Amino acid sequence: MAKTKHVMYLKLSLTLLILAHVLATTNGLDSPSSKTGRPWPFKKLNKPVVLMISCDGFRFGYQFKTDTPNIDLLISEGTEAKSGLIPVFPTMTFPNHYSIATGLYPAYHGIIMNSFTDPVTGDKFNKGLDPKWWLGEPLWVTAANQGRKAVTYFWPGSEVPKDSWTCPKELCPHYNSSVTFEERVDNVLSYFDLPQSDIPDFLMLYFDQPDKEGHEYGPDDPRVTAAVGRVDKMIGRVIQGLKKREIFDEVNVILLGDHGMVTNCDMKTIYIDDLAEWVKIPADWINAYSPVLAMNPKWGKDVKNPSEKNAELVAKMNEGLSSGKVENGEFLQVYLKEKLPKRLHYSESSRIPPIVGMVGEGLIVRQNRTGVHECYGDHGYDNKYFSMRSIFIGHGPRFKQGKKVPSFENVQIYNVVAEILGLRPASNNGSSLFTRSILSSSGETGEVD
Ligand SMILES: *[C@@H]1O[C@H](CO)[C@@H](O)[C@H](O)[C@H]1NC(C)=O
Ligand SMILES: *[C@@H]1O[C@H](CO)[C@@H](O)[C@H](O)[C@H]1NC(C)=O
Ligand SMILES: *[C@@H]1O[C@H](CO)[C@@H](O)[C@H](O)[C@H]1NC(C)=O
Ligand SMILES: [Zn+2]
Repeated sequence: MAKTKHVMYLKLSLTLLILAHVLATTNGLDSPSSKTGRPWPFKKLNKPVVLMISCDGFRFGYQFKTDTPNIDLLISEGTEAKSGLIPVFPTMTFPNHYSIATGLYPAYHGIIMNSFTDPVTGDKFNKGLDPKWWLGEPLWVTAANQGRKAVTYFWPGSEVPKDSWTCPKELCPHYNSSVTFEERVDNVLSYFDLPQSDIPDFLMLYFDQPDKEGHEYGPDDPRVTAAVGRVDKMIGRVIQGLKKREIFDEVNVILLGDHGMVTNCDMKTIYIDDLAEWVKIPADWINAYSPVLAMNPKWGKDVKNPSEKNAELVAKMNEGLSSGKVENGEFLQVYLKEKLPKRLHYSESSRIPPIVGMVGEGLIVRQNRTGVHECYGDHGYDNKYFSMRSIFIGHGPRFKQGKKVPSFENVQIYNVVAEILGLRPASNNGSSLFTRSILSSSGETGEVD
């Protein structure tokens, strides 16, 4: 009796198994994978989905400051940029978030600093939403233009209307720093409770930490360590939310930051007025002091050749700075923007002022010795400095488990997301070959090559 029951049970299980297989195969026929010929790896979602999370000012190495079990989980089960993600120059928040979104260097996407004055028109940009400033095609626009659904739960530039993207309220909430991190996470997760066909293809989530504490106290402060722990908890909240919905292994989660952070104390300052012996530089020629010195000299109407005068000014400044007579002078080098090192890609925009000074790591530039004396944290310096690096971790069906890739510049990320989502990328500064080095071609997570 018992034996018969057992056999019947076996038969039933077998039938169910076959049925399940047939269903899965049939389902596979009209899933997106049938177009690409790839095995369809998903059970719950009927399409590839990317969730990109940015932790502002998450310097590479912060993950070793304290226990970060959730970030560690993404790293061990995903793909990590071994020595961090390289930001673009200048290593500031708006230029970098928009480079991540567009795959363009700031000279080409137009947001050349967090705030600046256009040297040609005199118009001032200060994180405003006027579409004229925001060039290039960010991912949410690429998605919308190709009939996909994007959600931007805060991202610099996402509120700017462009092409098919109108920043609809329900998909593109306006930035509000008072919205708690928990609320941000829960809101983003709630999009996964929509009916299958309404689930967004692409979601972006932004935390303004640990940047805030980093600026206030410098990177080596217990309050920064606490902020790192807090951000890790939020990553845990994302992971738990996805696991509860049984989609943690189906969503491609990209965790990254825009730049790092370095201690900055005014014991290490370069004073412009100290150059007076070589050249007198009025404060109104200077748009920004540090971490990037941005200069647009106002030559009188009688000056026939301003570029010649600019070149002379640069030469005199560098002569003074390298004379050994100017305090900390060796930590500032001034360039005509066309002469900046090519690796910075920071010349081909009329918005970049004609003269740019590269300030040494952790140095400050001021006009004179009046003013505050303090220590804090900052970023914006040359992207060659390790302290300016952030993190990159990819987790999910297109990212191999436990894989480490060499560090890369964040302009590569646009193509990576476009490839995962099957979008035609707009022209950008990433390499189309790069996606092959970081993404697995099949939808299956596997061993490291
Ligand atoms: C910002 O968010 C807070 C907290 O959710 C809310 O009370 C406030 O009304 C919001 N402000 C705006 C301008 O929407
Ligand atoms: C120092 O520079 C600031 C501009 O940065 C200027 O407002 C101030 O008058 C200067 N002070 C002196 C003593 O030159
Ligand atoms: C970056 O991309 C833009 C748009 O395709 C292009 O015009 C520019 O030449 C590229 N610059 C570099 C340095 O690759
Ligand atoms: Zn930032």
